Amino acid sequence: MTIQSLIEKFKKRRERNMILKAAVRNEHSKRVTEYCKALGEMYLEDKTMMDILLSAALLHDVGKWFIPKTILDKTTGLTKDERNIIVRHSELGAKYIESFIGKKEIVEAILHHHERYDGLGYPKGIKGETIPMLARIISVADSYDVMKNGRHYAVPKTKAEIHRELEEGSGKQFDPDIAAIAIDLMWQGII
Ligand SMILES: [Fe+2]
Repeated sequence: MTIQSLIEKFKKRRERNMILKAAVRNEHSKRVTEYCKALGEMYLEDKTMMDILLSAALLHDVGKWFIPKTILDKTTGLTKDERNIIVRHSELGAKYIESFIGKKEIVEAILHHHERYDGLGYPKGIKGETIPMLARIISVADSYDVMKNGRHYAVPKTKAEIHRELEEGSGKQFDPDIAAIAIDLMWQGII
């Protein structure tokens, strides 16, 4: 099934509402949105971008709806094929949202939320400030949530461990300015 035919299949209002509701009710996405709000307040110069950032944060993983749950829920190592399927969620989510929400910044933030500052991320492998700003913020918030609250494949980390991980990832996985803000906000107890 091509991406296009998949998208067409779920564009009807009923399916669309179901997918969007599931996306915005997801606890991880809600926490990522909360962290993005705190990061955005410190980082965004143009505060009119805040609403766009928060919408993109809520929807960042919407593409996972199209990935089989059996793969998403795996706790043991993924095969290469399974990983290749999972990494398509950012592209799928961006294409899906683009099919009915024309807001370029939201679509780009979803598409690029797994890029890395050093260019080793996906789907495009772009780096540094060529990665859209909102995607760079979501990336830090997304990883921060996994570190703080754990996942089915990862245990929660202490603040000291999170501090170290954000610092080590600064300029590699993360935008250094945004990672530094996250460290500050964490010790202040804001996130
Ligand atoms: Fe994601």
